[in-house]
Amino acid sequence: CGIVGIVGKNQAERVILNGLHRLEYRGYDSAGLFVADESHHHLVKSPGRIKNLEDKVTAEVTGNIGIGHTRWATHGEPTEENAHPHTSQSGQLVLVHNGVIENFEEIQQNYLSEHTFLGQTDTEIAVHLVEELKVKENLSTKEAFRKALSIIKGSYAFGLIDLTDLQTIYVAKNKSPLLIGLGDGFNVICSDALAVLDQTDTFVEIEDGEMVTVTADSVVIEKQDGQVVTRDSFKTQVDLTDIEKGTYPFYMLKEIDEQPTVMRRLVQEYQGDNHQVNIDPALVAEFAQSDRIYIVACGTSNNAGWSAKTLIEKLTNIPVEVHLSSEFAYDMPLLSAKPFFIYLSQSGETADSRQVLVTTNKLGHPALTITNVAGSTLSREAKHTLLLYAGPEIAVASTKAYTGQIAVMSILAKAVGEYKQIQAAKEFDVFHELSIVASAMDSLINDKQHIKDLADEFLATTRNAFYIGRSNDYYVSMEAALKLKEISYVQAEGFAAGELKHGTIALIEEGTPVMAIITEEVTGSHTRGNIKEVESRGAKTLVIVTEKLAKPTDQIVLPTVHPLLSSLVSVVPTQLLAYNATIQRGYDVDKPRNLAKSVTVE
Ligand code: G6P
Repeated sequence: CGIVGIVGKNQAERVILNGLHRLEYRGYDSAGLFVADESHHHLVKSPGRIKNLEDKVTAEVTGNIGIGHTRWATHGEPTEENAHPHTSQSGQLVLVHNGVIENFEEIQQNYLSEHTFLGQTDTEIAVHLVEELKVKENLSTKEAFRKALSIIKGSYAFGLIDLTDLQTIYVAKNKSPLLIGLGDGFNVICSDALAVLDQTDTFVEIEDGEMVTVTADSVVIEKQDGQVVTRDSFKTQVDLTDIEKGTYPFYMLKEIDEQPTVMRRLVQEYQGDNHQVNIDPALVAEFAQSDRIYIVACGTSNNAGWSAKTLIEKLTNIPVEVHLSSEFAYDMPLLSAKPFFIYLSQSGETADSRQVLVTTNKLGHPALTITNVAGSTLSREAKHTLLLYAGPEIAVASTKAYTGQIAVMSILAKAVGEYKQIQAAKEFDVFHELSIVASAMDSLINDKQHIKDLADEFLATTRNAFYIGRSNDYYVSMEAALKLKEISYVQAEGFAAGELKHGTIALIEEGTPVMAIITEEVTGSHTRGNIKEVESRGAKTLVIVTEKLAKPTDQIVLPTVHPLLSSLVSVVPTQLLAYNATIQRGYDVDKPRNLAKSVTVE
């Protein structure tokens, strides 16, 4: 979910609607806003996209203070009643929330048994609780809010307005992201700086457990016990042009096209003097001294972890395990004596991953976050951070963050391997190889029409599809299938080519599309055998193959790159296939149903 709010500026509704549009990546199944001035207040909500909300915001809906919310449903369906903001029983308090209140049933029973609720959300419980404490214990709104925070368990970013004091937004955060933006004569609150970049570039962080009182000209941060905290502001590096779509029809296409630039930028950022890798030596040493690397991540980032496993092992001689955060959290494997954790997260906010980081921090294990967002929660909480420098990724389906993560891990592995004097690392000229990758990506991206034609032929109407490959090509197959599933809704599976015959081949029917990825000589001939097996059962096959292994009938030929970096190139046509399939099938590429880009609940 995403939150934006402002105090001290006329036409607050414009700032909020613009902000909500930019936060739509955080969820878009319903939205709402509250705005007020001395004489009027308005609460407008709508299921569906922000556009639906905008259509309901008529000219009289205006004010100089307000809060808004875009939702990714957890408790309660995405209906108008369940959309935020929520109001208290008397209607005096208005609240937006991002997160999950774990003890909402207990709160309902212990404090709110006489209250009636309009919807099914945990947020409604929170705003009723503040009012209940205010009335029963005769507390000011601020003190009632503070007391409610001591009762509420779970994750939250809250923005609260009291209708009898339209100068103030009360804010609190625990585990969910929230920033305060500083303006001239006004202040804003937001889940992500992107939301209010047209208002300010100066922000103040809030830490978990803190409560903030925001007015037009003041921001007071307090600890749970009331102690006031002073904190310096910072200027964000992101600027407005980074988040504009320009002439592109969709962000996803823009972000696919940006991948060569990201590769070149990573070379620039991480290449030090004398061609050396410029990464904190303390991080390199800690990594090098560990006996096992645990990569923990979700979704596309998890697939990037798999794609980096072999290269890290080959260059550093340290075994690598890749885990899903949501599994690792409850079923932690037996750890080695000196584990080192890598958290991969485009957003740096994914709650499933953060939960594991909190645990491994407690256990005292060193951790590195590789993320696209400086200052994000996972970055702040891990001992080390490496940035992707990919620029904001807005399409829900991740592309440039995936390749960025693999590239950063290749640079890191090079540094660690050199530190350990490993021959393979010494011989691996990572910056030169990444420059070759950038050019290879360029040439694939320039071949869009060809890939569009193939998407037409293979994916326009099919119900299901398979990607197959072995070793690194298998890992890319998993990502290729995820991309296709999440945006085009084709039921797709990424499969180890050799394993297909042990069961799943039963799903192959006349015309089932099977896309094979081949970048390795040794495994390639075996995958060719698997292609024959599915073809003889009716499959329609598409081969994505590296130049030197290509046969005349293969449809997509990949320029040659270093074998350890093959995923960076083989994934590009699969991204374009997913993109084109989605357009042909008539779906919204950037905002697939049921998903959110940054999932800040477990
Ligand atoms: C969400 C997104 C996925 C993403 C995953 C992990 O589920 O829809 O596209 O891969 O979160 O996100 P992260 O920001 O941690 O990489």
